[in-house]
Amino acid sequence: MSVHIANANFKNGYRVLVLNGSPKSDSFTWQLAERFLKAARQAASIKIYNAYDIAANACVDCGYCKSNRACKFSDLNEFYSDFESFDLIVFSTPVYNLSFPAPLKAIIDRLQLYYNARFSRGEKPAIAKKRKAVIISTCGGSDDAGFKIIEKQLKAAFTVLNIELAGTVFKTCTDNEKIGEEDLQKASKLALTIFE
Ligand SMILES: Cc1cc2nc3c(=O)[nH]c(=O)nc-3n(C[C@H](O)[C@H](O)[C@H](O)COP(=O)(O)O)c2cc1C
Repeated sequence: MSVHIANANFKNGYRVLVLNGSPKSDSFTWQLAERFLKAARQAASIKIYNAYDIAANACVDCGYCKSNRACKFSDLNEFYSDFESFDLIVFSTPVYNLSFPAPLKAIIDRLQLYYNARFSRGEKPAIAKKRKAVIISTCGGSDDAGFKIIEKQLKAAFTVLNIELAGTVFKTCTDNEKIGEEDLQKASKLALTIFE
């Protein structure tokens, strides 16, 4: 379900959780994420969750999390625990129909657990630890509307999730262009702003 990249030298126990939304092994988005992680690797321990491998149950709005700090489905228990305790969350996702691929959207909908902690049970903040996040994304066309929608969805969630957006890397036109060195540099520079 998840992959660990442990690093004995990582600084102060800094832990990075990566949520990968692409189903492809030769993913454009993952090329950017890998460059980000390469720059982060000296300073952090990294754990990767692949949304397509997890194939999380979709939220069914059963209301269980209105009265319990848990989901009625147990498939994301390990993920929830890491999500609350890791220092940085990397959202690495292609744009599908102006949004997230369905398996990643299912996980994001399952963060409703924290929305209900905050607004049904008055837990403020819903997650005690303040964390950072970055968003790395690519899309095939030249229009960045999908990225804006993804960013808007995540920013709205971050206010409840006690997450500060540390930066974004976004690349359009993958239908016609490869990921270039300039795009990869943006990913490493973002990592350096966080880890230097
Ligand atoms: C189901 C599906 C829906 C897509 N929807 C969009 C879209 O709305 N806008 C866009 O610009 N590209 C769209 N694309 C193209 C992908 O965003 C693009 O190929 C992306 O770079 C793939 O990233 P990956 O290689 O990391 O998986 C879509 C691709 C697929 C397979």
